[in-house]
Amino acid sequence: MPRVLVVGGGGREHAIIRALLRSASKPEIICAPGNAGIAADAEIVDLKVDDVPALIALAKERQCDLVVAGPEAPLVAGLVDACEREGIPCFGPSQEAARLEASKAHCKEVMIASGVPTAAHSEVRTVEEGMAAITGYPTVIKDDGLAAGKGVVIAQNEDEARAALTAFLVDQIHGGDLVVVEEFLDGDELSLLAVCDGDRAIPLAPARDFKRIGDGDTGPNTGGMGAFSPVPGFDLDEAERLVREVHQPVLEEMKRRGTPFHGVLYAGLMIGSKGTKVLEFNVRFGDPETQAVLPRLKSDLYDLMLRATQRGGLEGVELEWDERTSVAVVMASAGYPQSSSSGDVITGLDQLPEGVEALHAGTAFDGDGNVVTAGGRVLAVMALGSRPADARAGAYAGVQMVTFEGSQNRTDIAELIAGDR
Ligand code: AMP
Ligand code: GLY
Repeated sequence: MPRVLVVGGGGREHAIIRALLRSASKPEIICAPGNAGIAADAEIVDLKVDDVPALIALAKERQCDLVVAGPEAPLVAGLVDACEREGIPCFGPSQEAARLEASKAHCKEVMIASGVPTAAHSEVRTVEEGMAAITGYPTVIKDDGLAAGKGVVIAQNEDEARAALTAFLVDQIHGGDLVVVEEFLDGDELSLLAVCDGDRAIPLAPARDFKRIGDGDTGPNTGGMGAFSPVPGFDLDEAERLVREVHQPVLEEMKRRGTPFHGVLYAGLMIGSKGTKVLEFNVRFGDPETQAVLPRLKSDLYDLMLRATQRGGLEGVELEWDERTSVAVVMASAGYPQSSSSGDVITGLDQLPEGVEALHAGTAFDGDGNVVTAGGRVLAVMALGSRPADARAGAYAGVQMVTFEGSQNRTDIAELIAGDR
């Protein structure tokens, strides 16, 4: 029985673990640090996700056959490189390849070198340079570095632009001194993820996520309040076509630079009046897209991940998908995204019917063994349905059953595809 170490403790990692457990080789899973829901599916070990030496020591001691990095932090901290030195297969890109996500300016440079369509941009280091680079409103102002979803401001006017530039460049709220000023694009967003083996990119089923806290896409950006898959208009053939246009050229460019890309390459696409353009690349699975995408994967995830760690390992691989629609609705704690509360007992988790799953994110055990909230996004309720409306109804029925003090969720996840409006 193979043993896998999954690094992370969010809903994405819970969905990855559930999919790994469906693999034919029946892997045994260790997760660091995990959460209260993951504890029912895997052994959890309390380590920080970017403590590379401790993660390596654990993987060696427990003789893991595969390490899987969920979030970007361990990748940017060099987990894959460290695993490679120890001869342990690790699913994800090297530290150098992970710079695609760690630096937005670097990502733009790679996109341009690869000929991938993206918004026009300038790199600036002072507020005045930034103001001079703006050609009209709305405009997009992005902190260069990692900012946990809080590094992008869509400024509607000069005051908002100046405030964002000052926060990023003078107050350096994310610790950096470089900003990308970008042309605003409108349209529909699509999360198109592909599993890569250095040479080729195999598309995962497209998904849409919901970034704003409020119904109708209002209020501040969050880590993500829900997702669904598939996305009407983007079947697997269309996904293949987009991956050839978007992911494959980046893979070629990364290879040319001597830093081939392995793992998940996530393209955030904007499909609108100016065509299809790439807003950003991430170097990992999306959260909460993964909570909607992986429950639909019928292929063996352990085998897929192991193959992706080997150069050319994905040759001939074709993924099989459940035809049904999945809808994942995130339940967040009171005050999110500005603040979060914790320690509130969660009830109803054991009442979810067949086909409705709770994928845990910010959950923990209290001293009495109750499952309690432990952060902003608490969990996602995911349901599969033959029709989009059934999936949506299943997910929201689950949301009604799960309760905790101050819980909040969007009520319009997948409303458009379910034909309710
Ligand atoms: P990013 O981290 O670059 O994906 O940006 C986060 C979110 O900001 C995206 O999902 C979009 O909703 C929005 N965004 C980023 N870049 C642009 C752009 N050029 N035009 C319009 N919206 C954008
Ligand atoms: N859902 C957006 C992200 O994972 O970055």
